[in-house]
Amino acid sequence: MTDQNRGLFIVLEGGDGAGKTTQLSLLEQWLTQRGVTVERTREPGGTPIGERIRALVLEHGHGEVDPRTEALLFAASRAAHVQQRILPALRRGALVLCDRYVDSSVAYQGVGRGLGAAAIAELNDWATSGLTPDLTVVLDIDPAVSRARQAQRDGGAADRMESADDTFRASLRAAFLDRAAAEPQRYLVVDAAAEPAQIHQQIKARLQPMLKNSVVAP
Ligand code: TYD
Repeated sequence: MTDQNRGLFIVLEGGDGAGKTTQLSLLEQWLTQRGVTVERTREPGGTPIGERIRALVLEHGHGEVDPRTEALLFAASRAAHVQQRILPALRRGALVLCDRYVDSSVAYQGVGRGLGAAAIAELNDWATSGLTPDLTVVLDIDPAVSRARQAQRDGGAADRMESADDTFRASLRAAFLDRAAAEPQRYLVVDAAAEPAQIHQQIKARLQPMLKNSVVAP
């Protein structure tokens, strides 16, 4: 974060079924109650152009999207998001709470789609003008646990998912953990298999000292 910004940029990352939405809502509620101005947003999306890109990459019916096109679309959505939404909010002193950011591209496009983690990190460094979160929370979930959880939610349809899917999820998981291990001061890895309330406590404990210095509470 550069000096011109008074806000805080917090990102939540993790695989399917890790409970990002639950944690984002708990955090937003807690922060708002403390008088912190929260700008909650998500990727891909977060701006009018980003939401259109989101529809292009996530909705079916556009045919197969090749990996490089996909990586560039996510990066384009992110560039707009940084310039039009995240930086202005940080300059206003808000706490930006974002569902996914660069790490998702490194994991899904870099590792998952085989474009290379370093290439995707470099592309996104350019797209974001190097804007790095103050804290990235990785909700770490074992692929098998995630699958079991989803099955429970879907009413016992556990074995619909192939083991190939678990292997893919494991590679995404490793990508998130590698990024976190490289910069532990900027990451918090939490076990997403724990109870939501317990996970929330861990995130709060890490955020609390950061709030005192940066975010203006009325
Ligand atoms: P979304 O419906 O937001 O689901 P989730 O709750 O998992 O975040 O879908 C976002 C999907 O886009 C998700 O499968 C991850 C993928 N994605 C990428 O592949 N690259 C990216 O850079 C981002 C931000 C998301």
